[in-house]
Amino acid sequence: MKYTEVESCRVCGGNDFSDRLDLGEQPPANAFSMTPFEIPKLPLRLMQCGDCGLVQIGHVADCSELFSRYSFLTSSSSRMAAHFASLMQQATSRHVPYGGLVVEIGSNDGTALASITRRDVRKLGVDPAQNIAAVARERGIETRVEFFCEESAGAIIREHGQASLIVACNVLGHIHEVSSVIAGVDLLLTPGGAFVFEVPYVCEMVTNTEFDTIYHEHLSYFGIGPLARLLEKHGLRLSKIEPQDVHGGTIRCTATRNGNACDLSTWIQREREMDWSGFASRSNGIRHNLHEWLVDLADEGMTVCGYGAPAKGTVMLNYCGIGEDLLPFVVDSTPLKQSSRVPGTGQLILSPDAITGMPLDAILILAWNHAGEIAAKEPGRSFATPQQFE
Ligand code: TMP
Ligand code: ZN
Repeated sequence: MKYTEVESCRVCGGNDFSDRLDLGEQPPANAFSMTPFEIPKLPLRLMQCGDCGLVQIGHVADCSELFSRYSFLTSSSSRMAAHFASLMQQATSRHVPYGGLVVEIGSNDGTALASITRRDVRKLGVDPAQNIAAVARERGIETRVEFFCEESAGAIIREHGQASLIVACNVLGHIHEVSSVIAGVDLLLTPGGAFVFEVPYVCEMVTNTEFDTIYHEHLSYFGIGPLARLLEKHGLRLSKIEPQDVHGGTIRCTATRNGNACDLSTWIQREREMDWSGFASRSNGIRHNLHEWLVDLADEGMTVCGYGAPAKGTVMLNYCGIGEDLLPFVVDSTPLKQSSRVPGTGQLILSPDAITGMPLDAILILAWNHAGEIAAKEPGRSFATPQQFE
């Protein structure tokens, strides 16, 4: 797989980087395949810009390969579907006038747009993954298959006019040319419109030792400081920041042209105080202790499986060196993932039906952000999550 080394920061252009965590050579985390050991590995290194503070990875893989066939479906989590439905409900009632257009960047299978109940609102999705856009279209959500940028903004305006609301959840961190996305948002948004987006919050990643959320698809790990700087370049200001309890700690941000900028100082102060050395040592602690726990279980002849095959599971298993000898298989509800294997470590991915009635001594929840939803589906089981081993 082709990749380039990052030489300058995508927000401020600076080139004074500090290394934050080296995860070694890793396969692309979503490259589920029948031949998991043949997948090429790339360096995975987290660093931080000394100028604007943007936390980012040091190598960018060719994204057309990463996103043209995406295997995550928003609808596979009822909690996430409810989360996005409430976002759409709140944002459309706050920002969309009668007959207004809502554009979602990274619309996935159309779950969020489909949840809008107002009949007068026009909806348009944009997503580069052909296979998932097809699912959205089947449920009646018009979807453009492309990476959103300034050109697509122009094409959307010609066809549909400007948008009163643009939504982008878990998207900005994935995009190398993020400045072109914000330029497109600036073009597409009506003068009084709102750009509502969610990103995992970098301080939560550090505090909660969520190193497994670092992978090649996640190029940037945003804090408010770099976000404000990026938006400002395109005449947008943060008018609201609302913490959300999903994906290990997320912020929902609203940016507008003329809204009052909210107070950013407490956020930026917290970002300046992030404890990077603690983060690195706790990450190493998980690597060591989780591995040891599985070795002990194997020695005692206990049976264990993984639950969830999210990208973060791939990172966790590869970083901790957990092969099929220690964790023989994982289960995941996504049909697109079933029957393939975890890149780099080889676990076969089965349907959760496979463990119905199967005696298991422990289940390691790799999709720990869905731990509550998963535990409810397997009553009476004994669960562990990676972070408890730090
Ligand atoms: P995510 O962490 O990127 O949201 O991915 C979660 C993964 O976990 C996804 O592959 C679907 C899977 N999953 C299950 O298998 N069962 C469940 O109950 C839930 C909520 C998710
Ligand atoms: Zn920078």
